[in-house]
Amino acid sequence: MSEFNANAPSESVSTPRNVAVIGASGSIGTSALDVIAASGGRLRASVLSVNNDVVKLVELAKKFRPDAVVVANPNADRAPLAELPSGIETLFGPDALAEVVRRPEIDVVLLAIVGVAGLRVAWSALEAGQTLALANKEALVAGGSLMTDLLRTNGGKIYPVDSEHSAIFQCLLSRRLDSNSTFVDGSDVERLILTASGGPFRDWSLERLKTATVADALKHPTWQMGAKITVDSASTMNKALEIVEARWLFGLDADKISVVVHPQSIVHSMVEFVDGAVLAQLSPPDMRLPIQLALYETERRPGPTRKFDWTQSATLEFFPPDLERFPALSLGFEVAKKGGTAGVVLNAANEIAVDAFLNGRTTFDKIPVVCRQILEQHTFEEKPTLERIVELDAWARKETEIWISR
Ligand SMILES: NC(=O)c1ccc[n+]([C@@H]2O[C@H](COP(=O)([O-])OP(=O)(O)OC[C@H]3O[C@@H](n4cnc5c(N)ncnc54)[C@H](OP(=O)(O)O)[C@@H]3O)[C@@H](O)[C@H]2O)c1
Repeated sequence: MSEFNANAPSESVSTPRNVAVIGASGSIGTSALDVIAASGGRLRASVLSVNNDVVKLVELAKKFRPDAVVVANPNADRAPLAELPSGIETLFGPDALAEVVRRPEIDVVLLAIVGVAGLRVAWSALEAGQTLALANKEALVAGGSLMTDLLRTNGGKIYPVDSEHSAIFQCLLSRRLDSNSTFVDGSDVERLILTASGGPFRDWSLERLKTATVADALKHPTWQMGAKITVDSASTMNKALEIVEARWLFGLDADKISVVVHPQSIVHSMVEFVDGAVLAQLSPPDMRLPIQLALYETERRPGPTRKFDWTQSATLEFFPPDLERFPALSLGFEVAKKGGTAGVVLNAANEIAVDAFLNGRTTFDKIPVVCRQILEQHTFEEKPTLERIVELDAWARKETEIWISR
């Protein structure tokens, strides 16, 4: 067992910021823990959570010495917890996860779990007026109107972690309506321009896309990410979800959002103003930078991300997206325009379709087809409650399963 405590403050740091790392075993969680370990004690992992990976949780708890750990899946194997260092509170189940993020001693909740399971945790944290560093885009896609209402009433804050939204947030820092929100004064904003790498299938024909395998889809050219988001990147559904996320996060109409393909993943997104000026945020493709910025609530500090070597020449390319080969993008624009319950249905259908693709039960090209079908089948509501969103999520999952198994 390592004696090193990666949470330990250096002598000059009096009060570290307590970070609840929700989804600590995942790709974003791992990057966040890198940032915390490199913070010289300014940041402290006070809560760590996993769904199933209890072995990893124990390994991380030995290194970071949090106050509490949470295993979200109540049926996960608990045997490895015997190795947990003493004095660490251990909690189980989704209710405990939703409760732990409300604790007042937490300064920032990094929400880095995958899927719509993030919705309830985000809702609970914002209801308690917490500060959220939000990687889990599904929470905003599925519950956008609820989340933004809570932000307006309960005093919580969201700092985006998704690199595109962090980039836009950075370009709009001087234009937030108040320092507590991401909502912007859109009067001088012509449009938000989300960049997309184009993924591994950027140059594939429609015919070839029908033959795409799981191994092909998991070969992302520029980012190392979890499996679900990597498949979403390949289908461009990730960008579709990001369009919806941006609509809620920044409080702008969907027609002020556009997408451009930028294969180098250096420009993380841009904002065009009414006078034609464009602000962009550039950095190497490394999630640790937007994570760090969110954990420090936009304060700029040195961190583990490498810097550009400006003595080397580089090329930045931009292409229009091909909506015919990547129909998921059109779904993103439509759903962002509609709002209401469209997001939860698109997200749920996509989660099931991606799972089916990863498990060999459907083909890659069917993902956007089934998503459109289920969206068209659903009875739209403008202002759903949390209960209604949860019901529709379950309905869309069931209908998607039926469609796939036909
Ligand atoms: N990866 C990126 O670069 C990136 C970039 C931008 C945005 N995002 C977003 O960030 C989120 C996380 O992505 P990721 O790539 O880090 O995912 P990931 O590598 O698959 O990790 C997911 C994490 O969530 C936990 N988890 C899974 N299901 C859960 C549930 N039902 N309840 C509680 N915890 C659960 C997992 O625990 P176990 O390990 O125990 O299963 C793991 O810790 C996603 O919403 C994604 O869209 C990711």
